Amino acid sequence: MSDSFALAAFLARWSAGIRHDLAASDSETLPLSALLALADAEDQRRWDALDLGYADPRGAPWLREAIARRHAGLAADDVLCCAGAQEAAACLMGALLTPDDHAVVVLPLYQPSEQAVTARCAATGVPLADDGAWTLDLDRLAAALRPNTKLVLANFPNSPTGASLPRAALDALVALCRRRGLWLVIDEVYRETDTAPPPAVVEVYERGISVDGLSKGFGLPGLRVGWIACRDRALLARTLAVKSGLSSCLSSASEVLAHVALRNSEPILARTREIGRRNRARLDALLAQHSGLFAPDGAHNLAFAFPRYRGGDAEAFAADLARNAGLLILPAALWRSPLGRVPVDHLRISLGHARVASALEVFDAHLAEVPGSRIQPAPCPV
Ligand SMILES: Cc1ncc(COP(=O)(O)O)c(C=O)c1O
Repeated sequence: MSDSFALAAFLARWSAGIRHDLAASDSETLPLSALLALADAEDQRRWDALDLGYADPRGAPWLREAIARRHAGLAADDVLCCAGAQEAAACLMGALLTPDDHAVVVLPLYQPSEQAVTARCAATGVPLADDGAWTLDLDRLAAALRPNTKLVLANFPNSPTGASLPRAALDALVALCRRRGLWLVIDEVYRETDTAPPPAVVEVYERGISVDGLSKGFGLPGLRVGWIACRDRALLARTLAVKSGLSSCLSSASEVLAHVALRNSEPILARTREIGRRNRARLDALLAQHSGLFAPDGAHNLAFAFPRYRGGDAEAFAADLARNAGLLILPAALWRSPLGRVPVDHLRISLGHARVASALEVFDAHLAEVPGSRIQPAPCPV
């Protein structure tokens, strides 16, 4: 299998000529001045007196405490901060997996996380069912377990499908993992843009590990602040040892800004969700207008939609859009995995940015040129 990151390669290939971006998965960001304007006196003092020496390698205690407060029963020492969720997942896999282990990976999965597993041990993919609801088949997952299976890794709410794990399914998955003593690692970076997420796995399972960060719903990927929340402090110490080979501490400026963001999560998330909600309504209307080309998208995430493309080769369609309309949309094939089948007839369309509104107008105009795209009015009864 190639080690290259298909999504990054696709973006690198097309970004130069792109005028309309419908590929992003983060949300509308805030300028530094707007974020700082939300700082209370304590954070403003931290910012004004910013210490630029090496900082606590686990993340500042007050930042970890603010993260821990998001989860019932967690304390600052149950949190390890990393340079983004991507580094968090990679370090965790480095701390958990050895060549003698086996892992079960729920597909589709963010490719760097999948590769953090497959670089270390044998893995079996369990694809979400393409059944309209992207159901996780627990029997299939149970059948994939081996005597040496150490963990299950999944991304819920899922990218690119937008699938959420309903509470009952989460409970059943936890029960299965508990019976087998497995770690259950869930990348939860799209929780904040889900309209009805289940609890974080760290809250419902003693071996549940939540990977999260500020890149997506908070719209702050430039801060590079992600984290692992987990009740096993010995595992966090081993993860820290792996992380120390990559980065010694977070950026001190990012720590203060992340703390401001977490203390003001309500207004920040209300703003990004409202943008996502409006864009979802616009996109749903567009998809309905072009039902010859697209099935309606049943997902309820506000970061992106994932409609089925009915026009044939979705990858070629996305390439044509990039080349001829300067419009970037991600074909599902970018999530292809050697571990199992992922859907290739869908497109991931971003919803989280204000610029999506005008990009959707361009998309609509382009689609109007495609024969058979628009719904035909029903003939008038005589
Ligand atoms: C599922 C998933 N996990 C992790 C990441 C990486 O997040 P971060 O920018 O915080 O490293 C992404 C980014 O697209 C993602 O889609």
